Amino acid sequence: MTTCSRARSFGAAAAAYAEHRPGYPDAAVDWALEPVAGGALRLLDLAAGTGKLTEPMLSRGAVVAVEPDAAMRAELVARFPDVDAREGSAEAIPLPDGSVDAVLVGQAWHWFDADRAFAEIARVLRPGGVLAAIWNRDDTRVEWVSGMYEVGRWRSAVVQGPDDELRLPAHEAFAADGFAQFPNPAPTTVEGLIAQLNTHSWALTADPGEREATFERVRAYLAGRPETATGAFDLPIVTDVVRLVRRERVPSSTA
Ligand SMILES: C[S@@+](CC[C@H](N)C(=O)[O-])C[C@H]1O[C@@H](n2cnc3c(N)ncnc32)[C@H](O)[C@@H]1O
Repeated sequence: MTTCSRARSFGAAAAAYAEHRPGYPDAAVDWALEPVAGGALRLLDLAAGTGKLTEPMLSRGAVVAVEPDAAMRAELVARFPDVDAREGSAEAIPLPDGSVDAVLVGQAWHWFDADRAFAEIARVLRPGGVLAAIWNRDDTRVEWVSGMYEVGRWRSAVVQGPDDELRLPAHEAFAADGFAQFPNPAPTTVEGLIAQLNTHSWALTADPGEREATFERVRAYLAGRPETATGAFDLPIVTDVVRLVRRERVPSSTA
């Protein structure tokens, strides 16, 4: 299974994605926008999917949502009919030069061609504008969650410490501007969690037999854990935000 086909897998589960994936905390979006706060903001939600990150951005500025997948975009438009939603990608953003104050990327930077995305984002951002990459991650520092990851045979992705903090490669057009983590617990149930897992690219592209076998192991594990055995629980999620600021001057090869 190629990275490209995994990157394009989400549309097949667009409605389930919108229903079961967690949202993002307001505090994470406020922190991301801190360097440009004040005044009327022009915001880009890049790789907007069904609009999970668009939602908390709406009260903070005028939002354009760019998303390549038609099914994901249709979910976004159904939920937020007033949003300016456009077809496009990180490598070809349908916006003029210097037209936004901030570009936010939820759960998607890892799908981009980083060099081409950096160049496009540097082009559409005004000097001093913000690029923030944001990820929701299950908090595998919590014992029952790390146990579930062992049972699922998944790799833990939660940031463990300062050495782990820089998740975006360095780029000449951007200065690193910090990293922050925010708690984002998600109330769910065993079947809600399975439905959420079913919207991840690994599940969408897995052999159906293997996927069901994984889910059966996870169900059995959750039934045996005191934290989840009653059926309803909070999934401990942390929201990681990496913030960069576009330099005032960028080399002509970039923008
Ligand atoms: C895991 S979803 C995240 C959606 C949304 N940002 C969120 O936080 O829920 C990843 C999204 O990235 C989109 N995507 C994949 N490759 C992309 C690219 N090169 N440029 C822009 N979006 C891309 C997919 O279509 C999908 O909607």
